[in-house]
Amino acid sequence: MSLKPAVIAGIGSYVPERVLSNEDLEQIVDTTDEWIVSHTGIKERRIASDDQATSDLAIEASRAALEDAGMSADDLDFVLCPTVTPDHLFPSTANLVQAGLGAHNDMAAFDLLSGCTGFVYGLHVARQFIATGEMEAVLVVASEKLTSITDWTDRSTCVLFGDGAGAAIVTAGEGEPSEKGLIGFVVESYGEHGHLLDVPAGGSRRPLDAEGLANHENCLHMNGPEVFKLAVRGVPEVAEKAIARAGMTNSDIDWVIMHQANLRIIDAAARRLDIPDERMIVNVQKFGNTSGASTAIALDEAYRDGRLQPGDNILLVGFGAGFSLGAGVLRWGL
Ligand code: COA
Repeated sequence: MSLKPAVIAGIGSYVPERVLSNEDLEQIVDTTDEWIVSHTGIKERRIASDDQATSDLAIEASRAALEDAGMSADDLDFVLCPTVTPDHLFPSTANLVQAGLGAHNDMAAFDLLSGCTGFVYGLHVARQFIATGEMEAVLVVASEKLTSITDWTDRSTCVLFGDGAGAAIVTAGEGEPSEKGLIGFVVESYGEHGHLLDVPAGGSRRPLDAEGLANHENCLHMNGPEVFKLAVRGVPEVAEKAIARAGMTNSDIDWVIMHQANLRIIDAAARRLDIPDERMIVNVQKFGNTSGASTAIALDEAYRDGRLQPGDNILLVGFGAGFSLGAGVLRWGL
């Protein structure tokens, strides 16, 4: 079977209007702007309103991506929604996005749970359906309302996260799959480290009860220093594998977009990969960690401000809950 190139036909993103600054957080927990900036690089993040759920953010980003692609929701064959903060355990957020976009029913729709690697994992999955010719258009929309699982009494985590969504429409291009669009992707799972970053209660292992609620076990818990060590080691390794799978070397990469979790992790990984600062796309200072959406939001920002040029090779790298890792090389706009 001859495979088709999977290309990005359009992208879009959405972040809520409300800004939560480090100074605002100083009023909530015992922290300082200086600590947050020096340990994470984050200055502010966006917070969804009470009546905005993850699917609402996703629909906004999806509409922007459809408009960018010049397509309608009825052109889609599949809505794939990477998220760790679904509106409900079920129905899936992807089903709600399909309905919210007013799209027809003759399509696949499901969520993908791979933490902050969400958008990278999502592109990798979409690519398979496009490459084989099974589908013609896949919407990958990574969306998170992380503030719905944030423990606002835990200063070590509540300063890190924000809400937002990023979407891409993946379609088939002409020519060689090795030369266009989503070129070399690698995804990995280190389940033995899953306990380092989790929501302890509310699943089948530990249904939420009064004790769990009192202990905020329905919220995100993280061993920050251990996650930091895993990320600094794992990110350059998986990035190198994706670059090699794309048949490239580090010097062929024009732009790097890493999961926007922490500027120190991004800087350390860039040094290990020998990528100069001017080739790094970074917006963690404005939006904090938006989990699986962060690489999509940064990609959209760089596209809309004119940094990305046709033919540019872009390396996307994700890492997060699971523990999951993933990286992919994308050749822009040919
Ligand atoms: N404000 C002020 N002090 C804080 C604080 C905050 N918001 N959060 C933690 N501290 C304190 C701790 O209580 C600790 O104090 P102590 O020494 O008196 O006990 C001190 O700062 C150091 O804590 P530590 O957890 O060792 O800090 P760190 O240098 O490892 O930085 C993180 C913490 C979370 C920023 C860092 O571990 C990190 O970025 N980890 C990876 C997180 C990540 O990327 N997660 C997402 C993965 S998808």
